[in-house]
Amino acid sequence: MTNYHFFKPYTLRNGVTIKNRLAMSPMTEQSSFEDGSITNDEIAYYRLRAGGVGMMITGCANVNDLGKGFEGELSVANRKMLPGLTRLANAMKLNHTKAILQIFSAGRMSNSKVLRGKQPVSASAVAPLRPGAETPRALTNEEVEQTIKDFASATQLAIDAGFDGVELHGANTYLMQQFFSPHSNRRTDKWGGTLEKRMNFPLAVVAVCAEVIKQRKPSFILGYRISPEELETPGIRLADTLALIKKLNDTPIDYLHISLADAFASSIVDRDDHQPIFEKIKPILAPDLPLMVVGHLATPAQVEKLMAAGVDFAAMGRELIREPKWVQKVEAGDEKAIRYTFSLRDLDELKVTPPLLNFLMTAFRKGFPLSTDDEQLKL
Ligand SMILES: Cc1cc2nc3c(=O)[nH]c(=O)nc-3n(C[C@H](O)[C@H](O)[C@H](O)COP(=O)(O)O)c2cc1C
Repeated sequence: MTNYHFFKPYTLRNGVTIKNRLAMSPMTEQSSFEDGSITNDEIAYYRLRAGGVGMMITGCANVNDLGKGFEGELSVANRKMLPGLTRLANAMKLNHTKAILQIFSAGRMSNSKVLRGKQPVSASAVAPLRPGAETPRALTNEEVEQTIKDFASATQLAIDAGFDGVELHGANTYLMQQFFSPHSNRRTDKWGGTLEKRMNFPLAVVAVCAEVIKQRKPSFILGYRISPEELETPGIRLADTLALIKKLNDTPIDYLHISLADAFASSIVDRDDHQPIFEKIKPILAPDLPLMVVGHLATPAQVEKLMAAGVDFAAMGRELIREPKWVQKVEAGDEKAIRYTFSLRDLDELKVTPPLLNFLMTAFRKGFPLSTDDEQLKL
């Protein structure tokens, strides 16, 4: 079957048409050079997966040096990165796939080893709740303003490199989320203190990036990724997120991307509430602002079910690592050939680098089944 709804094009608010409703979720390969410039391994990895999905989102790229969260992270922190980023954009823009650069700062999710002796920064000096986490220092007002400008410069650099858009990483507990979260943001200046003020940093980032786009390339796509909830107390609750989304409706973003472990998941805080999160978000979204949802999508039937439930874009992560030609195989009516497991024998063919393999086998081991053969071999 090839007449799936997810193959239908979608025209964004800014007039740009995306060839289908499929996206590759942002996934770092942790394989960039020490200064954050792209390696040939990464180019090959993206090129292999380009051409099928409508939008391909890169792993996160730090907008300034203090924003670096882990080794092997892509950087968009200075003009030196332009040649490498240009090669990356070119590799991704195959067969009308739109190339989206995810831009971020890790904030308190970094450490002084990664930052070569410097203390991580955040909205406030509150350590994340994880073993061994360092306590960050609070950014000064001047540094907050500079960080916002760094997002604007990163957007400019992405335009110059030939990307089709940027995705602001407001999710997964990184700096933009840290400003929104009552756990990490205890400020009492204009950047914190109330729910409204905790929105100021993310909204200021959106505003400066939107301004660059308006001035330099109005057809450039601006996406925003959010995590709808936090487990911490105090922490982001769904009502906070819905309030932020109402504000985002009035900004010129082109899509909203919800980061979920499972696309159909309900609240992780209120266990008695079984309604999928996307069903709570979709009705309050501006009608022309599309919703992208991610999480454990693997089969065409699962993606189609999500579309039928009213979601506009489906993002896939690990399945596109296992199966770079997922879209092409579905298009060709060859669904039986889709790989749903991963064999270590396929590493070279799949262009999976050792750091990416290590990441998958540790942080993401549960959702990344090896093939039966490898299990038997105890690899
Ligand atoms: C190896 C790996 C790297 C990831 N890196 C990022 C990242 O750079 N930025 C981000 O927003 N999410 C990142 N994620 C999360 C994914 O975008 C996605 O939300 C998650 O994997 C769930 O989707 P899936 O079940 O389809 O894999 C990463 C996930 C994986 C597996």
